[in-house]
Amino acid sequence: MTTFLVTGANGKLGRHVTQLLLEANAGTVIAASRDTAKLADLAAKGAELRRADFDDPASLAEAFKGVDRLLIIATDSLGSGQRLRQHKAAVAAAKAAAVGHIVYTSMVKPETSAVTFAGDHLGTEEAIKATGVPYTLLRNSSYQENLFLSLPSALKSGQWYSSAGDGRIPYIAHADCARAAAAALIKAPLNQTLTLTGPELLTTQEIAAQASEATGKPLAVIPVTDEQLAEGMAHAGLPEAIIPMVVSLDTNTRQGGFDILTDDVEALTGRKPSPLKAFLDANASALMAS
Ligand SMILES: NC(=O)c1ccc[n+]([C@@H]2O[C@H](COP(=O)([O-])OP(=O)(O)OC[C@H]3O[C@@H](n4cnc5c(N)ncnc54)[C@H](OP(=O)(O)O)[C@@H]3O)[C@@H](O)[C@H]2O)c1
Repeated sequence: MTTFLVTGANGKLGRHVTQLLLEANAGTVIAASRDTAKLADLAAKGAELRRADFDDPASLAEAFKGVDRLLIIATDSLGSGQRLRQHKAAVAAAKAAAVGHIVYTSMVKPETSAVTFAGDHLGTEEAIKATGVPYTLLRNSSYQENLFLSLPSALKSGQWYSSAGDGRIPYIAHADCARAAAAALIKAPLNQTLTLTGPELLTTQEIAAQASEATGKPLAVIPVTDEQLAEGMAHAGLPEAIIPMVVSLDTNTRQGGFDILTDDVEALTGRKPSPLKAFLDANASALMAS
């Protein structure tokens, strides 16, 4: 019987992937987290619990014992300067524990990306390849759910400031990333780099039009430069430390850094990824309320 381990099982993605593995009856499922006390619901459904903290290599050596297939979920320590070190610790522990296959949640086109944290993903991909352990790299596009960070205030004011120009993004549903990750663990495509995208590439203008249609509220895209965007964010009170990261997402969009469409989700899961309009329709009230 195959033994699976999902790191970060208390995160949204980790929790969903763990649930899917349990539902699939695919083998022994281990849910790992910095705090296993938060995973009681997963234990009740049949998951084994182990403590795994990428900042505590001893916990990883214990956690990864006997694991055949490991999902390393990128940490949320964006901009901390610690993330690549954390990921490398997990990769080294996987190699030392003789894990049979590593799946990793990366990002789209990290080699050429303008996004400030792209190096964390590229460095992790390289570290995984260097181990010689069989791997599947899942390059996740931007989650549709990320739009909760920008659309609510834009819908409130009717204006969406953007330096993304005509750049396009294939927004993907978080649930499609989870289904693809569970399928990648079960099928273990050998040494493949897959890019998980939604079904369509959309410009900011097109997203605004869809959001407007879903909510019934007018929404105009106001094109600005990266510098103006950063100034506006500072003015709105966004912490200085995260402004370059947020602006880099628009820069990368404008430069085509997210512009890629694949069939990899359907190939892995057997179903087409959900379109952005379905997300916007389902969340119209929440987007206007937040
Ligand atoms: N593609 C995108 O648009 C997009 C958007 C947002 C985030 N992401 C990335 O995708 C990941 C999963 O997304 P999500 O929605 O599940 O995010 P989330 O709910 O915010 O989860 C954060 C994750 O980071 C893990 N983590 C933090 N510090 C850790 C450490 N020291 N050791 C091990 N794990 C650690 C957490 O694990 P525990 O709490 O269980 O220990 C948890 O799984 C994020 O962490 C981020 O890297 C991608």
